[in-house]
Amino acid sequence: MNQPPSVAIIGAGMSGLSAASLLRETGLNVTLFDKSRGSGGRMSSKRTSAGTFDMGTQYFTARDSAFSATVDAWLAAGWVAVWQPRLFRYDEHGLHPSSDDQRRLVGNPRMTALSRALLADTPLHSSTRIEQLQRDRQQWRLVDTEGESHGPFDQIIVAVPPAQAAPLLRAIGSLSGPAERTSMDPGWAVALGFAQPLNVPFDAVFVRSGPLDWIAREASKPGREATQNWVLQSTPAWAAGHLDDSPEQVIQELTQALAEVLGQRLPDLSFQQAHRWLYARPNETSDWGALAAPDQGLFVCGDWCVGGRLEGAWLSGQQAAKALLERL
Ligand code: FAD
Ligand code: NAI
Repeated sequence: MNQPPSVAIIGAGMSGLSAASLLRETGLNVTLFDKSRGSGGRMSSKRTSAGTFDMGTQYFTARDSAFSATVDAWLAAGWVAVWQPRLFRYDEHGLHPSSDDQRRLVGNPRMTALSRALLADTPLHSSTRIEQLQRDRQQWRLVDTEGESHGPFDQIIVAVPPAQAAPLLRAIGSLSGPAERTSMDPGWAVALGFAQPLNVPFDAVFVRSGPLDWIAREASKPGREATQNWVLQSTPAWAAGHLDDSPEQVIQELTQALAEVLGQRLPDLSFQQAHRWLYARPNETSDWGALAAPDQGLFVCGDWCVGGRLEGAWLSGQQAAKALLERL
């Protein structure tokens, strides 16, 4: 009996997991590789001594009909839940309520619960950074930074941010152009645990003035622990000007900015941690969908091919998987 085609996917963020789910349903033999310790990529949750913090994706929305239908299935499975924060906005007029009727979703009980569920039992080579792609007799081998060679695979999908995709693709002379032309903006995220509750009437704020972009209360999200934990995210512009600051400096400046937004002295901190995202979001939108060199068995996807949101990453992964299936 013929073996089903084997596919290697480099990157186990939303785009790689989206492609993996579709290919697995079709009976293909899928293996994932990721340089991190687990799956999820920028849809990340950090477990700390003070509880869990969503340090990347804060929530997601669904506008595309296929994505909406998939999200409904995730809701039914309990992998995600609807989050209904009391929303405020901070701008030149100060802090004011800014509610709307947008459906916002979060992984349940943390963002990475969704990536775990999508990963299912797909083999994942974690802590494995792929640095070279080799084509040999119509098949691919992947070489990691330890010099270990993985494969052979019939097809590969590169599902990583453009700065990481470009060198892999440049070396094989295929599909590297869009990745070379796309730049990503950075971002700083800060996790804060307070000794006392913050006395504020909101769960999240869209900040439109100063270094902050976003403020969110962790415990307002479904399934989370009852903590006094908050996440702050900087604007891309502020992060670009403070890339080499120490985490301590970033925590100090963004906590100070929080006090200014709230117009009050903050309670003592019982926990603080900062994370720098070098490639947080594409600095312009594109609509490549996915990139394909079907004759080589090579496909590329990621949020940067569709627009830097979780939905875009899912859509791009689906498009890469469909392009691959069409050519089998
Ligand atoms: P990633 O999640 O980056 O996945 C790529 C994976 O590839 C990573 O796991 C990485 O470790 C791995 N990798 C890279 N290079 C290699 C290599 N050489 N070998 C092996 N593995 C490799 N979107 C929303 O919709 N709503 C939000 O509220 C939101 N907030 C955000 C907040 C922050 C701080 C950030 C950073 C992003 C946010 N986003 C948000 C964007 C969202 O997180 C992304 O659009 C989405 O997660 C991208 O998925 P991806 O699969 O394209 O890439
Ligand atoms: P969305 O529709 O909730 O928000 C889109 C944007 O509209 C917001 O950024 C905000 O500027 C504005 N907005 C929406 N509702 C608002 C309200 N009630 N009051 C005031 N402003 C409001 O969600 P969407 O389109 O799914 O975007 C996801 C979120 O992810 C956005 O907030 C975006 O900024 C954020 N994001 C953050 C990244 C980062 O690196 N920090 C990377 C990618 C996305």
